[in-house]
Amino acid sequence: MSENIIQHTHPIGKSDRLKNNGHQAKVIWFVGLSGSGKSTLAGNLEAVLHHKGYKTYVLDGDNVRLGLNNDLGFSKQDRTENVRRIAEVARLFNEAGIIVLSAFISPLKSDRDQARKLIGAENFIEIFVHCPLPTCEKRDVKGLYSKARKGLIPNFTGIDAPFENPKQPDMTIDTETESMEKSLEKLLEFIGPKIELE
Ligand code: ADX
Repeated sequence: MSENIIQHTHPIGKSDRLKNNGHQAKVIWFVGLSGSGKSTLAGNLEAVLHHKGYKTYVLDGDNVRLGLNNDLGFSKQDRTENVRRIAEVARLFNEAGIIVLSAFISPLKSDRDQARKLIGAENFIEIFVHCPLPTCEKRDVKGLYSKARKGLIPNFTGIDAPFENPKQPDMTIDTETESMEKSLEKLLEFIGPKIELE
């Protein structure tokens, strides 16, 4: 498909944008079950960074699926395509010099590995938002687990579709036992040095 397409180099590049912004651009990729707290963590971390003056953007599963990815469902192929498109979008934001906080279940290791490769390992920070399935199910913030248990949502992650735990995430946040404050503190301590310009 990309035959006869030739990459164009523009006068302003990523390093120029970083200089203007005054910070590094990273993709902070939150991985975890539905209801584990990915979106809440991403949103709260964004708020802290935003108020410190960083340029940020949250890419969130449900939101992206209401727009760009509204033609995709939850089959294995569609989830792979979902993650591929998000990774492409995150890569553009990264080129734009913006800190992306992405919150997608991204249940398969192979899809996450592809995302890391596409975005560049040096730009990619994987955060495993760990919360055991029974707790996510008990929280059932959106009421989807109870629907899935009744058979009303096929291929629901953790019920009848797989979730592969990240084996070597850059950081794990345990939302069952840790407070939001503690989690944010840990994240900031870890991410802070990575987003400073040398
Ligand atoms: S992913 O698996 O393709 O990465 P994504 O993060 O985009 O998933 O979307 C997950 C959100 O879609 C969930 O938080 C939930 O609100 C909703 N959802 C609807 N159907 C399903 C399903 N079958 N499995 C998981 N989540 C679902």
